[in-house]
Amino acid sequence: MPPAPASASAPSHSLPSYLAADRLGPWGVYLQQIDRVTPYLGSLSRWVETLKRPKRSLIVDVPIEMDDGSIAHFEGYRVQHNLSRGPGKGGVRFHQDVTLSEVMALSAWMSIKNAAVDVPYGGAKGGIRVDPKKLSRGELERLTRRYTSEVGIIIGPTKDIPAPDVNTNGQIMAWMVDTYSMDVGYTATGVVTGKPVELGGSLGRMEATGRGVFTVGAEAARHTGLAIEGARVAVQGFGNVGGTAGRLFAEAGARVVAVQDHTGTVFSDRGLDVPALLAHVQETGGVAGFGGAEALQDSEFWGVDCDILIPAALEGQITRENAGRIRAKMVIEGANGPTTPEADDILSDKGVLVLPDVISNAGGVTVSYFEWVQNFSSFFWTEDEINDRLVRIMRNAFAGVWETAQEHKVSLRTAAFIVACTRILRARELRGLYP
Ligand SMILES: NC(=O)c1ccc[n+]([C@@H]2O[C@H](COP(=O)([O-])OP(=O)(O)OC[C@H]3O[C@@H](n4cnc5c(N)ncnc54)[C@H](O)[C@@H]3O)[C@@H](O)[C@H]2O)c1
Repeated sequence: MPPAPASASAPSHSLPSYLAADRLGPWGVYLQQIDRVTPYLGSLSRWVETLKRPKRSLIVDVPIEMDDGSIAHFEGYRVQHNLSRGPGKGGVRFHQDVTLSEVMALSAWMSIKNAAVDVPYGGAKGGIRVDPKKLSRGELERLTRRYTSEVGIIIGPTKDIPAPDVNTNGQIMAWMVDTYSMDVGYTATGVVTGKPVELGGSLGRMEATGRGVFTVGAEAARHTGLAIEGARVAVQGFGNVGGTAGRLFAEAGARVVAVQDHTGTVFSDRGLDVPALLAHVQETGGVAGFGGAEALQDSEFWGVDCDILIPAALEGQITRENAGRIRAKMVIEGANGPTTPEADDILSDKGVLVLPDVISNAGGVTVSYFEWVQNFSSFFWTEDEINDRLVRIMRNAFAGVWETAQEHKVSLRTAAFIVACTRILRARELRGLYP
């Protein structure tokens, strides 16, 4: 990536008293990204401080009675990073390592993602410090309900709309709807998205993120003259996002040559039989042991001869150690944050085009937006209508980011931040400061 204009150099940040400067975690990464984009914001940079502090952070104590009769307390968060463009939107993560800094950063990245694809939301995120695998179903339900009630003072269909994230799912969203509805006295399906279809969820939501990954990849391929038909594709993570994206690429004539998940890595030079692999994963829980494919060492995955690489598993997978071995022409980030900043620079130097997560995996939040609209109107769309509208939004978003990248000669990641921050700060400027 070309160097940013000189004024980008090493700004210092005034930090809120509740964060330690030497333990900023993901929030520190986010602040660096904002520094990178600030020189491109023109007169709007006057407002940039608004992006460097969350609007509202709520920390709650979540006590529940355990099955053995003891009382356990868990720490929960809901952070609303920015609400200039609309209500907060972002998932709820149940994980033992969740921290305030992490939830702050994730909420900020939701502000960026929602603005980058131009859905009318601000950014928010929530979480509980808990290993849900250690809870019984009853404990998990009580935890979810008490958390929902505790953050109920700031969430709501017109205020802040949670959704699933790591270790949360449609059932947890259903408990959240029920708890919030009991508290307010009417059935409020629009308080969360990612619900089961039987409870006001949207058709097409399950596949939306993978479909978005495919759509953005196909657009980038068109812009760069890469033919999807016959292209060699490698996918890390073959769950909701990677499985759907892999299937759609295969249906478009690409050859999915390598797939890695937590059980192993499978390879076929001729291309894997993707529907058969999906069935195998469904049956056995992973890709390992799939017939008709060669098993590779996990470390060999990154050096596989391919045109398109789709990291769709975890954050921090493409690193300084493996980025140099990547042979793909294009990386489509299905996961959140799969590429470390050092790896990003290595890929850029090699001429690998990286399609950043804030655009590539925004299909999920886009269909969440459709779900919320359908809940408000109590009128439901067909799956074709959902998919058509999704593709339209993703294509427009990609076109805007591509144009910005060309104009400023920056990476697509920086371009996505320029587009998003400009939208957020323009809304901030138009609204002015109250009082
Ligand atoms: N589901 C969505 O709508 C959505 C939206 C935006 C972003 N994302 C992001 O996409 C990523 C994947 O989410 P998902 O919903 O597909 O999850 P999932 O649980 O359905 O699938 C995760 C996949 O990653 C694999 N995996 C786990 N650990 C691994 C490891 N160490 N090495 C290789 N593979 C490993 C698993 O085997 C599985 O195939 C996450 O980063 C998530 O935050 C998901």
